[in-house]
Order: sequence, then C-alpha cells, then structure tokens
Amino acid sequence: VRSLILAAVLAGCDANGPVAAADYGEELFNDPGFSRSEFNSFSCATCHDTRPDSGSVRIGATLYDGAFRDSWWGGYAPRLIDAVGFCYVYFMRGEPLAPDDERGRALYEYLVRLSSAKPSPALPMTVVENVGIVPRGDPVRGETVYGAACRVCHGDPHTGRDRISYLASIIPETSVGFARQQFNPPIDPALVVVEKVRHGQFFGVGGNMPLFSREALSDDDLGAVLAYLGL
Ligand code: HEC
Ligand code: HEC
Repeated sequence: VRSLILAAVLAGCDANGPVAAADYGEELFNDPGFSRSEFNSFSCATCHDTRPDSGSVRIGATLYDGAFRDSWWGGYAPRLIDAVGFCYVYFMRGEPLAPDDERGRALYEYLVRLSSAKPSPALPMTVVENVGIVPRGDPVRGETVYGAACRVCHGDPHTGRDRISYLASIIPETSVGFARQQFNPPIDPALVVVEKVRHGQFFGVGGNMPLFSREALSDDDLGAVLAYLGL
C-alpha cells in the first residue's frame, strides 16, 4: 500500500490516478479471473509477452510498445479497444467491457506504461489461408518449439500433464482420434494439427485456441513440432 501511495504522489495524482490504475491493470493482465467465465483459464499473459523482443515463441505478439501502434491485428483492428476486446470476448469468453468500466481503463493505463514509442508501427500478422501438410522437421528442435509455443496450455504431449485446464486437448491423441472418427476415409492427423494451429477454429469446429500467424510460428517450426509429436 505504501509504495502505491508513494508512486501516486510522485506522479502527482490521487490514489485513483494513472499509476494506481496501471498497477491494477497489471494485476488484471496476469489474472485468469479477469474473465468471469467458468470456461476460461487464460490470462492475457498466457498469450502475450510484455518484453521488447524476448525471442520467445508466443501465440500473441508482445504488447511492449503496444498501446500506440498504427493499427492492430494485422490492420483488422484500427482501435486498441477493439484489439483487446476481441481477445477478451473470443479467447477468454468474457462479457464485453462497458466503455466506463474501470477495469478497461486500468488495463489501458498498464498498456500505456509498457509503451514509450508513440506512435509505433503496426506489427505484421500473416494468416495462412490455405493449409496443407508441412514437411516434418527436426524433432529435437520441435521439442524446444513445443515447450515455448504449446506447453503453456497443453502441458506434456500424450498425457497433458500440467496443462492449463481439462479443456486443453491432449495432443496429438485427440487429433489422431478426430482424424479417424470424423472422416471416412480417415485423414492424416498431422493435417488436423496444422489446420488447428493455422486457423484456430478448424473444420467448422469452434474452440478458443487462437491461430498462430506465420510471424508467431514459421512452417519450419511447425514441421519440427509435428516430428516431435511423432506425426
Ligand atoms: C488465448 C490467447 C490470447 C489471450 C488470452 C489474449 N490474447 Fe491478445 N492476441 C492473441 C492473438 C493470437 C492475437 C493476434 C496476433 C497478434 O498478437 O497480433 C492477439 C492480439 C492482441 C492485440 C493486438 C496486437 C497487435 O499489435 O496486433 C492486443 C493489443 C491484445 N491482443 C491484447 C490482449 C489483452 C490486453 C488481453 C487480455 C485481456 C489479451 N490480448 C488476451 C491471443 C490472445
Ligand atoms: C493459449 C493456449 C493454447 C496454446 C498456446 C496452444 N493451444 Fe492448442 N488448444 C488450446 C485449447 C484450449 C484447445 C481446445 C479448445 C479448442 O479446440 O480451441 C486446443 C486445441 C488444440 C488442438 C485440437 C485437438 C483436436 O484435434 O481436437 C490441437 C491439434 C492443438 N490445440 C495444437 C496446438 C499446438 C501444436 C500448439 C503449439 C504450436 C498449441 N495448440 C498451442 C489451447 C492452446
């Protein structure tokens, strides 16, 4: 409490000022309970890094210098509030935040605190439209990529140990079953994985796993993951 007050005084504002709000926003950013849906287990931090360019593979882009970009979501979202709202509603299954909700303002102040560049260029985001099988890569590399890009939600392959929630599929077994049971003749389970990773919602099946853009995950890295999964 003391440091909060001190920080507020230094910034020349009362306890409801931008500094206190940014601290609250940081808490929300890291809290899966920010969305009140019983089906949500993600926080913003599950998918987004906040460091400059840590080189870590994440499904979402870093939000460092993220508040004043020229646009968001590869140009699909011209306003920050829509970019955030999309994640909150579709991935975290939250109820849309009213414009005067103090949680929205707090989150905004936190994103502003992460951003010194004003304005900053939009980040490229390439959605792979037509998916197909990608060449299998090096399984050792695949283990590293899986650890950085998938494990946070899916836990260990084959068992799901340490996965984020029971709703995160056990891979690759779920896809192997899907490829056999939903298709006659069965399709290659690797194709199910590629489709899911590139489109998020796949074969008309919903879900709340986002897609990986080309920038977030290259085809080479995806091919390495397939090899690691034994597909
Ligand atoms: C389940 C994963 C996931 C969660 C949870 C999530 N996001 Fe995202 N977010 C994404 C993906 C994927 C994109 C699109 C790729 C990208 O980052 O540009 C994205 C895009 C964004 C963008 C646009 C970035 C840009 O420059 O294009 C912002 C801003 C953002 N998210 C903020 C948030 C905030 C704030 C939260 C928490 C309320 C949140 N996200 C929760 C996955 C997620
Ligand atoms: C932010 C959390 C998150 C990340 C990161 C993530 N996934 Fe998922 N994934 C999920 C959830 C939750 C589901 C189940 C709901 C759904 O289908 O969207 C899922 C479902 C899947 C499925 C569908 C299984 C089936 O056949 O029904 C596949 C395949 C998959 N993920 C592969 C991957 C791979 C490979 C990676 C890494 C490159 C990855 N996921 C990263 C959360 C995530």
